[in-house]
Amino acid sequence: MQTAPIQFEPFNALSDRDAQARIAAARAQLGQRAVILCHHYQRADVFKHADLTGDSLKLSRLASQSDAEYIVFCGVHFMAEVADILSRPEQISILPDLAAGCSMADMANRAKVERCWRELATVLNPDEQVTPVTYINSAADLKAFCGAHGGIVCTSSNAPKILAWSFGRREKVLFFPDQHLGRWSGHKMDIPMDRMVIWNPDLEMGGLTPQQIRDAKIILWHGYCSVHQMFNPGQIVRFREKYPEGKVISHPECSFEVCAQSDAVGSTETIIRVVKESAPGTRWLVGTELNLVERLAGEVKPEGKIVQFMADTICMCSTMQRIDPQHLAWTLENLAAGNVVNQITVPEHEATLAKIALQRMLDAS
Ligand code: 13P
Ligand code: SF4
Repeated sequence: MQTAPIQFEPFNALSDRDAQARIAAARAQLGQRAVILCHHYQRADVFKHADLTGDSLKLSRLASQSDAEYIVFCGVHFMAEVADILSRPEQISILPDLAAGCSMADMANRAKVERCWRELATVLNPDEQVTPVTYINSAADLKAFCGAHGGIVCTSSNAPKILAWSFGRREKVLFFPDQHLGRWSGHKMDIPMDRMVIWNPDLEMGGLTPQQIRDAKIILWHGYCSVHQMFNPGQIVRFREKYPEGKVISHPECSFEVCAQSDAVGSTETIIRVVKESAPGTRWLVGTELNLVERLAGEVKPEGKIVQFMADTICMCSTMQRIDPQHLAWTLENLAAGNVVNQITVPEHEATLAKIALQRMLDAS
């Protein structure tokens, strides 16, 4: 029976212990009707409630395979949008705190990408010469843009494969919003640095000359992740001086210089797998978000592996951090009472086109 939604206000004041107890009680009431998906950056006190965990690619596949009525996404906004797009129409995707966005995703928007496309059209024929590739860290309307223009979505675990797909169709790529993932993936495909140019959306023609656009293989949007910006090559140099036998692994959202000096580069799922599969006693320096690194350090400690965080300061995904036990308890209690709160719904016309671009990715990876 549906009642008026329970307001968040009293949940704000819940102690962590009470919030945990109420999450457990609401979950018991909901049973199989709700599935909790958690990204690897999720804080420990929420992550412990996950039914399923993964990087962005794995989570999008899991969302599309789930049978649950409610997909409670403990991640950020674009992830819950992907769950809504890929799940069945009767399933409901929920983000426990609507303020959990991704600052990098916000660095590109539909108006700016359309302007870029129009400006490119003064130099070449983008619909014949340029494949638009959006990182999954982007709003649904940008995925829809890609769907409408022969483009595709990529994640940090399949970007070089997706670039290969794209170059198989058109001679150039417009890659948004993360310049670092685009540059690293282009480098992995042996594209010279001087054929990858930066499109600054705040400047006319992206700040590029017509010749630079004609010569480019990849046009990289000027976007970045503020968390992964905190890592730098100096941190790797100091680690190697101190521990010459140590290994370094980084996320491809880090700068090119950090990736180039790492022993391995990969998505969050890859980082976890590589560290777990390494020999007992290995020491690792890890360049990605702190919640993941701290959890991984604890998990591999019994095998004598040491996992260190790359930065000297705390670098958390502060937006994902907003999904706390209080918001999860509030969300689940509402669902158990028959009230859907914080549903993420992508408008149908956008979802249809975005799904085309997502499906191309799932088929190609
Ligand atoms: P993954 O796909 O590697 O999990 O990365 C998502 C993300 O937002 C990293 O900042
Ligand atoms: Fe976005 Fe960076 Fe957070 Fe990943 S870590 S979700 S890219 S803000």
